[in-house]
Amino acid sequence: MELLIATHNPGKYREYARLLSGLPVRCISPAAAETLLHVDESGASFRENASLKAVANAVASNRLTLADDSGLEVDALQGRPGVHSARYGGPGLTDTERWQLLLSEMKRVPWAERTARFRCVIALATPSGQVRVADGCCEGLIAFQAAGDNGFGYDPIFWLPELGCTMAQLDEETKNQISHRARAASLARPLIDRLARAAGSS
Ligand code: IMP
Repeated sequence: MELLIATHNPGKYREYARLLSGLPVRCISPAAAETLLHVDESGASFRENASLKAVANAVASNRLTLADDSGLEVDALQGRPGVHSARYGGPGLTDTERWQLLLSEMKRVPWAERTARFRCVIALATPSGQVRVADGCCEGLIAFQAAGDNGFGYDPIFWLPELGCTMAQLDEETKNQISHRARAASLARPLIDRLARAAGSS
């Protein structure tokens, strides 16, 4: 059975195809399925946004569909940027300008209060509108200054205390073992397995 990975981002598609290998589903991209609705991320939570995207695409494509939503929650900023991570500071900013803004807001926050986490919610939807969700997070601290050139988004300022470096200083393979997306995907695996087997036997 096919699993539509509803994302505009080819890197994310490849990553999910790898994280979900070995399941009784064949991952297909929106291009291969000739469908990808643009769904407004108007929800108040990662869960709501991921579910909105998964259901709309499952109904439109008539396929079991995976969609996700992710972002950075900073405790000293009461959970901001959260669901607004991609748009933090306004629509015209680059990734670098966004994390620079975040660092300037955190200037006076001491180390012990700089706790933060990347969060990812994966929603799986069937064409009949059934939804299951899996939540993954990766805990860390907001560094005082950026370091590293790998990754994207807020990676250069996200400090991993157990590894002693920022997320942007990790190679792709290591990041993909500990990331919020990898953790959500490992919880999503048994859900996909069950949904695929139920669809196969009906
Ligand atoms: P999306 O869920 O892919 O739309 O991600 C929303 C935003 O959250 C991105 O634009 C990034 O700013 C941030 N984000 C999500 N995942 C990561 C990550 O692994 N590293 C750094 N930033 C991330």
